[in-house]
Amino acid sequence: MSLLDKVAIVTGSSKGIGFEIAKEFSGRGAIVIVCSRNLDQSKKAAAQIMGTTLALEVDVTNESNVKKFIKDVVNRYHKIDILVNNSGYPFDDTIWNKKIHEGSTDELEKIIRVDLIGSVRLCQAVLPVMMQTSIDDQSSNITGGGGVGGVIINISSTPAISGNIGGFPYSISKSGNITLTKCIAKEYSSFGIRAYTLALGNIATPATLDSMTEQIIVKAALESPMKRWGKPNEVAKVAASLADDNFSYVTGNTIVIDGGTVLI
Ligand SMILES: NC(=O)c1ccc[n+]([C@@H]2O[C@H](COP(=O)([O-])OP(=O)(O)OC[C@H]3O[C@@H](n4cnc5c(N)ncnc54)[C@H](OP(=O)(O)O)[C@@H]3O)[C@@H](O)[C@H]2O)c1
Repeated sequence: MSLLDKVAIVTGSSKGIGFEIAKEFSGRGAIVIVCSRNLDQSKKAAAQIMGTTLALEVDVTNESNVKKFIKDVVNRYHKIDILVNNSGYPFDDTIWNKKIHEGSTDELEKIIRVDLIGSVRLCQAVLPVMMQTSIDDQSSNITGGGGVGGVIINISSTPAISGNIGGFPYSISKSGNITLTKCIAKEYSSFGIRAYTLALGNIATPATLDSMTEQIIVKAALESPMKRWGKPNEVAKVAASLADDNFSYVTGNTIVIDGGTVLI
């Protein structure tokens, strides 16, 4: 099992894509922290996953809450090998359907607080833990021993690459995640810490499907050369592959998971 005994935090894993990532990681042997703002929902989600899980509550917009959350995980497992920043502000069509000049900076701030600052905050709390793992690890050397610090995966979205008509607060927040990944790759590779962005196209979760009419669901499928939506597990499998050692000399990349719609 490629992620055997790795300790993985997946934010926003009470449902949707995060839940599938947690399930896939667990299936590959990881100990997974299933979390969101709703502890009951996280417990229910964790109970559906075979393997070792721990359900916790965390609000990524709350600094002291995040610090306590990371402290609790470290006290229990003494390390964090993988962080997936997946939490996302719930879809709100009143914000999404506005052009830039119609929207407000308050709306922008609301989304940035979860989708971007949330990711930054988790990285700030987790990076020192991963650095310590690397310092304790003796296998690092310049001719091929990468050392082991950890893996951070930030969930972004294709409008962050292509731009979009509508949803500018979301696209701006998600584009920040791409830059966050690249900065982590440059600043922390020497600690054996790798970072990736997953830029997602249309992925069939209740959160997206329930917010759309049948007509829009069909139109979204047809945007992709594959003529279909992606499945949450298709994202989860990429995340799990990146998190294991097969990608040990690869970092900073944006992997687009959208059936070929946005080619970079
Ligand atoms: N589905 C798509 O088509 C698609 C496309 C591109 C990108 N994405 C991105 O992929 C990620 C997952 O999307 P999804 O469709 O699976 O969404 P989802 O089903 O709405 O799941 C979002 C998760 O984030 C949690 N969350 C929200 N606010 C939070 C906060 N302040 N602190 C901690 N957790 C919080 C939610 O739980 P609570 O509400 O209980 O906290 C939930 O577990 C998001 O970042 C989204 O932007 C999705």
